[in-house]
Amino acid sequence: MQPENNQLVQRVLLRAATAADVPIFFEHQQDPVARHMAAFAPADAADRSGYLAHWNHILNDRMNLARTILYDQQVAGHILGFELFGKRTVGYWVGRDYWGKGVATQALAQFLQYDETTRPLYARAVKDNAGSLRVLEKCGFRIIGDDRGFAHARGEDVEEYILQLVE
Ligand SMILES: CC(C)(COP(=O)(O)OP(=O)(O)OC[C@H]1O[C@@H](n2cnc3c(N)ncnc32)[C@H](O)[C@@H]1OP(=O)(O)O)[C@@H](O)C(=O)NCCC(=O)NCCS
Repeated sequence: MQPENNQLVQRVLLRAATAADVPIFFEHQQDPVARHMAAFAPADAADRSGYLAHWNHILNDRMNLARTILYDQQVAGHILGFELFGKRTVGYWVGRDYWGKGVATQALAQFLQYDETTRPLYARAVKDNAGSLRVLEKCGFRIIGDDRGFAHARGEDVEEYILQLVE
């Protein structure tokens, strides 16, 4: 992505995710619209202890790279590097209050440049998640295949694209 928007670059910052951020991530993942988009989300959006336990595991596994996305110093979401099916993969979630401002695109661009430097690098998005696919495309990912899997947030099998970063 071109760093054309210097104001946005200054407003979006990444820092190491901490346990104190997780209750805010929990609120973000409770949004039914966001859950439908992501599809691969916990089956029970109200299961706070399950979500906290899952994040406790994420934060304590050195294979994971977890960053909190800040927008004007507020916790706006998170971005992750993790192993999925033996491939280094990125994923992210932005709270609805922060959508449509370029936050995900800017956060992913920074993450790829400064944090998650493993290559090859992959991502997945449900085929109808136009927002996430656009974010990935803007940051240099290209579709290389597809897959199908059971998405708990929708309670059904979904089709997803597999993308690879092409720099
Ligand atoms: C998908 C998501 C990360 C987008 O975050 P965002 O900060 O609003 O994205 P940006 O503002 O950086 O948008 C980047 C581009 O995507 C487009 N876009 C964003 N949301 C969109 C949507 N719902 N439908 C179509 N296009 C969308 C924007 O218009 C922009 O394109 P443009 O630059 O060509 O105008 C956010 O909606 C989200 O977290 N959703 C729930 C969780 C999720 O789906 N995570 C990804 C799982 S693969």
